[in-house]
Amino acid sequence: MWEYSEKVQEYFYNPKNAGVMEKPDGVGDVGAISCGDALRLMIKVEPVTEVITDAKFQTFGCGSAIASSSALTELIIGKTIEEAMKITNQDIADFLGGLPPEKMHCSVMGYEALRAAVANYKGEAWVDDHEEGALICKCFGVDEGMIERAVRMNKLTSIEQVTHFTKAGGSCSTCVEGIEEVLAKTNAAMVAEGLLDAAEAFDPSNAVRPLKRPKTGKSPLAIKLEPVTKPKLTNLQKIRLIEEAIEELRPYLKRDGGDCELVDVEGERVMVKLSGACVGCQMASVTVSGVQEKLIEKLGQPLRVIPV
Ligand code: FES
Repeated sequence: MWEYSEKVQEYFYNPKNAGVMEKPDGVGDVGAISCGDALRLMIKVEPVTEVITDAKFQTFGCGSAIASSSALTELIIGKTIEEAMKITNQDIADFLGGLPPEKMHCSVMGYEALRAAVANYKGEAWVDDHEEGALICKCFGVDEGMIERAVRMNKLTSIEQVTHFTKAGGSCSTCVEGIEEVLAKTNAAMVAEGLLDAAEAFDPSNAVRPLKRPKTGKSPLAIKLEPVTKPKLTNLQKIRLIEEAIEELRPYLKRDGGDCELVDVEGERVMVKLSGACVGCQMASVTVSGVQEKLIEKLGQPLRVIPV
């Protein structure tokens, strides 16, 4: 599994500024739960100085998505809109002491959510409905503009990097040609602008392409969790490890007035009961995905946590 910095773990277990904001001045929504990650960023802005006085988020996703969203709010509070718009996804990753390459898309999601929230604050349209021809990756809803921005900002020069930073191409891979086209075009423009060495630019004739996989009907989240690195556990071993992982999490949940207990395990389905502040809490989906991430880390096997 991935190595997370201590700060990522700290922001995952104790996210700052999580929750709903009353009467926000700007709201930015990016991603979709069906794609495995979704983020809503809400901001309050002082109208004269345009200082962001408060920011809150709701995230559905893995631990690094939660940590990245929380880091973003910490980075933008106290900054003017103009200053905040200079924050890059790399700034979010740096704030967290780095993210695994495969998780950089979490920082890009934060960057995109900020752009969407600021556009909403300014009363500008945020094109998230993908104009005809602009949607490149249907599995993850990634459009040409998002790929272009990620390529430019992070100097990406390979398809694999684009997948790490945007998730595009990370499932069935039928969008690879589209990713190549955008990558080649953007790299060529960067070379012409003196932003990239021609020798480093993406070369389609030498490109390493992921194998196309048929769509399985499983969600991208399920596909992402498939690699199994640990030996198969017996049912008893699995239940013991799940119980241990939940016990490790409970103090954090209790501190926030909630709790979680194991109800049943059926194959890869882990039924849990959330109680206290976790029930009906706006962040319940975050709690569930946090428990799921923790169990997967502990067992090294794909699992789906279902609240009952
Ligand atoms: S369309 Fe991009 S991974 Fe399936």
